[in-house]
Amino acid sequence: MEGVTQLEKKPSGFGTRVGFELAAAGSAVGLGNIWGFPYKTSANGGAAYLFVYLLCILLIGAVAMLAEFQIGRNARANPVSAMKAVSLKLGAFGLLAVLIPVLIMCYYFILGGYTLKYALSSFSGNTGMFPTFTANTGDVILHTALFALAAFAIVSAGVRGGIEKSSKILIPTMLVSLIVISCFTLMLGSGVKEGLAFYLKPDFRALTWSGVLSAMGQAFFSLSLGCGAMIAYGSYTGRKVNLLRSTAVICLIDAVITFMIGLAIFPALFHYIAVSGIPAAELGMGGIGLVFITLPMVFDEMPYIGACVSLLFFGMTAIAALTSVISILEVATQFVLQCYRLYRGHAALLITCFCVILSIPVGLSIGSSFAGGNFLQFHGRNLLELLDAVTNTILMPVCALAACVAAGWFLKEKLSPAVSVMMKFITPLLIILIELFGVMDLAGSYGGTAVLGAALAVLLAAFLAYYALYRKRDTGSNDVEAAVFAQELKRRKDGPARSWQRTE
Ligand code: PHE
Repeated sequence: MEGVTQLEKKPSGFGTRVGFELAAAGSAVGLGNIWGFPYKTSANGGAAYLFVYLLCILLIGAVAMLAEFQIGRNARANPVSAMKAVSLKLGAFGLLAVLIPVLIMCYYFILGGYTLKYALSSFSGNTGMFPTFTANTGDVILHTALFALAAFAIVSAGVRGGIEKSSKILIPTMLVSLIVISCFTLMLGSGVKEGLAFYLKPDFRALTWSGVLSAMGQAFFSLSLGCGAMIAYGSYTGRKVNLLRSTAVICLIDAVITFMIGLAIFPALFHYIAVSGIPAAELGMGGIGLVFITLPMVFDEMPYIGACVSLLFFGMTAIAALTSVISILEVATQFVLQCYRLYRGHAALLITCFCVILSIPVGLSIGSSFAGGNFLQFHGRNLLELLDAVTNTILMPVCALAACVAAGWFLKEKLSPAVSVMMKFITPLLIILIELFGVMDLAGSYGGTAVLGAALAVLLAAFLAYYALYRKRDTGSNDVEAAVFAQELKRRKDGPARSWQRTE
């Protein structure tokens, strides 16, 4: 019995500060950095955009991240319990922060599957594969399932044994791959100068208001804010960790890696333009096409070595996607296991299977849109674009705003006056701006009202479910995991003894 109580008291969570910082940086660095940042930078005035982006990380991202960490660590619990611990009225935002990861996983699993496929088929050439691969449902499901399985394996192994351990291996691996790729592309010769100029030459005239807003949104999504991930990771940190310092480290890692990704991609693209003679305007430089359609052409153009670079690049991208997806799988797993007192493995399996099944229509929808079809398209948007807009543009800023309000106004953590003013006034104001412009932009775009309607439906569902099911109920804390384990241990110990006694 003593052993059982000891187990119940055993602290769950990250073993070291570095482990925590690497895991959070892993969540931050993801597909958003790899395809989002480079093309947005080039479309919005190069270094001018980079400057605004870094400013946004400092003014909005870092502050909101700190707020989320504080909320998590204050309660040492899942986002619902953590928000409830601040104020019962804010609990619904905690539940919204658990639903958003489920929506994100539905497309992140698919995209992770794509990166895996591209990494694995680097040596047979990936040029022109996108429409055929995405239309091959069986192949897409297979790679999605493999990717999801990797995420499940890590999360079910626990915060320390799975997430922390894997981050300590995966993040350095990703960084080394990125350095090798950048060195290689910077040495390509023709086109490199033009590529760097395109990426880095500041042109403040090319930076419009919508560019500034795009930088704000990019900083936001890139730091995994407003979706419970940082609340969950914050809940697993030790009381002694200086959260302000860790936030600075994580933001710095995210910014540096993001910048380096641009350094790796643009010289390669412009080298290809120089040697193939295809004009820049004809190459897909934006969106999903940059990574899955244009870059494979660039890699395949360089015989032998290109395949190795492709393997490194898509391997690195798959790792970035994996370390991001485990953070959102953890959010949902943490909530389900704590609220319903399940085993970690069972909770993670449940969520993974649920999201893999939901991701199948998303995969079909992407495939159809690239093949020119209209299966599961919503007013010109495929399901990936729809879910992306619902979560990134509308719902995540709402949750991050709630986090800033909760930590800034309700929590009694000691903060320097400057940070406190930021958290109470400036950052919330900037987030409201992002939200307003996002809504206006959508309202004015074709099919935007469908996105707004879907976002509103999710918001309503979170509120209804919170008031009907979770407001009064004990939604658990980080202690539950050890307690469930201990209970099972005790049951196993007692079970056979009793039956043995009966037969006696
Ligand atoms: N930060 C990740 C990226 O840049 C995306 C992400 C958002 C991951 C929210 C987890 C949670 O791609």
